[in-house]
Amino acid sequence: MNRTILLLLLFLCIFSNINSAHGRRSASFRPHRDLSIYHQLSDEKLLPSSDQELISKIDYEWFTQSVDHFDSANQKKFQQRYLVNDHFWDGKGPVFMMINGEGPMSLGAVTGLQYVVWAKEVHALIVSLEHRYYGASFVTDNLATENLIYLTPQQALADNAVFRDFIANTYSVPQTSKWVSFGGSYSGCLSSWFRIKYPNLVDYAIASSAPVNPVIDFYQYLEVVQNALLTTSNGQQCVDRIKQSTQKIQDLLKQPNGLKTVSELFSLDPVLKTDDDISNFMQSLAGTFMGDTQYNLIEGPFKSVEALCLIMNNYSNDSLTNYIQIWNNAQKGELVDVSYQSMIQEYANITNDDTNVGGRQWFFQTCTQFGYYQSSTSNNHPFGHLFEIDFQIKQCTDIFGFAFLPNVNWTILEYGGLDPSASNIMYINGDIDPWHALGILDPKPASSSIQTLLIHGAAHTADMYIPRLFTPSTIAPAQKIIFKYLSDFLNNVNQ
Ligand SMILES: *[C@@H]1O[C@H](CO)[C@@H](O)[C@H](O)[C@H]1NC(C)=O
Ligand SMILES: *[C@@H]1O[C@H](CO)[C@@H](O)[C@H](O)[C@H]1NC(C)=O
Ligand SMILES: *[C@@H]1O[C@H](CO)[C@@H](O)[C@H](O)[C@H]1NC(C)=O
Ligand SMILES: *[C@@H]1O[C@H](CO)[C@@H](O)[C@H](O)[C@H]1NC(C)=O
Repeated sequence: MNRTILLLLLFLCIFSNINSAHGRRSASFRPHRDLSIYHQLSDEKLLPSSDQELISKIDYEWFTQSVDHFDSANQKKFQQRYLVNDHFWDGKGPVFMMINGEGPMSLGAVTGLQYVVWAKEVHALIVSLEHRYYGASFVTDNLATENLIYLTPQQALADNAVFRDFIANTYSVPQTSKWVSFGGSYSGCLSSWFRIKYPNLVDYAIASSAPVNPVIDFYQYLEVVQNALLTTSNGQQCVDRIKQSTQKIQDLLKQPNGLKTVSELFSLDPVLKTDDDISNFMQSLAGTFMGDTQYNLIEGPFKSVEALCLIMNNYSNDSLTNYIQIWNNAQKGELVDVSYQSMIQEYANITNDDTNVGGRQWFFQTCTQFGYYQSSTSNNHPFGHLFEIDFQIKQCTDIFGFAFLPNVNWTILEYGGLDPSASNIMYINGDIDPWHALGILDPKPASSSIQTLLIHGAAHTADMYIPRLFTPSTIAPAQKIIFKYLSDFLNNVNQ
């Protein structure tokens, strides 16, 4: 398939969630697909046009990988996709590895991001491996639950270890070259864990917005959303008006014919029926605010906490009308399917499809390893209490067919959580980003060679993009600091 078409499809999947089967949109927000942590690193529309030329010189390559790195009796292999950008490489510089996470890897992973600018300065070789099970790196014939047992961070890190060796040989990388891993969000976790588990293979790791301390009930998420809304002009009023709207919707739902009334107000099709539909709907409403907060100012000024509150605070209309307007803007005025059954059906689809954003796979990872459920448990947010943690857990059972709780304790035990025993890692977070609540923020003693950086006003993985006109003014100086640490390390300063 033509590359442009492929990317366009991805783009549509990620940002519009068109439900072609029904000719209706599915809910704007899928907590585990769009927001959980699907970040937009590989989104070419965020790249400057000057990178299009570079992109045209790079293409996907494939290599043979083991299905199970930890069972030598299992000889099965699969084809894994990777990218190399050797346009800046001088044959002796460092190697920069961009670790991929829960989505298809696009050509944007090795072009156009801030670390590529740095790679140019230090003549680095840039490589990137697609995460197993995502994009076109199919591991098994389909995504049936029993086939997903090899979808773990342990296997993904081992993939990167083998890949690192493969690149070292293929490109005759000198022993003296330093290896640096990068990643954001889940892949930021992987970047840090790669250094923690394979210190012989990677010398330095940069982890942006990495939620390394997974929790099942991630109630803090909405608290950070509220705090972010409060930072806007008239923030308190904005939060109050959201709270009023939530209350009005909940009151309407309790009236005779309330389900129908609310469904009409919000252009829902089919009409709300069950409690699960209502939970899914209420979470979707919050979802518009969650998405625009998590990616505050990454795509432009129109997608920001300030833009949301500007609409919420417009006294020409009552708060519920403003709230509906925000919803309609996000849905582009189309009918929306928020039924629980449709959502479960979508995630229950086991077909391998390289244009898919990987919702089922990531959902599986949350159900088994990470949790990260953005529940309504806390009182410190204005979105009501109709999507509690039970609602999240139930979805794991309904999608994968067995009851379990994510084993976040093992994930923390395995990698050290907030207190890993490691060196040469830099943890970067933004205080607008809800995910920073699960990241490493506290400064470490200088002797530990672990750096932390909390960027004021920064959204999720905002430090990874090349700053643009509307980028908060705190980002570029933070990137200077990051590059200073990195280049000092590469130049053996203070070692
Ligand atoms: C507030 O809403 C009114 C009526 O829809 C509109 O004319 C006006 O431009 C809005 N103000 C702002 C600041 O958006
Ligand atoms: C006020 O409500 C009207 C009717 O729904 C809408 O056209 C208009 O854009 C709204 N304005 C604001 C600022 O919410
Ligand atoms: C499952 O996904 C595949 C590939 O995305 C699609 O072609 C198929 O129609 C889906 N099946 C159902 C039942 O929705
Ligand atoms: C995980 O650890 C927490 C805190 O130590 C503990 O309360 C909880 O019971 C553990 N969960 C499981 C499933 O072992």
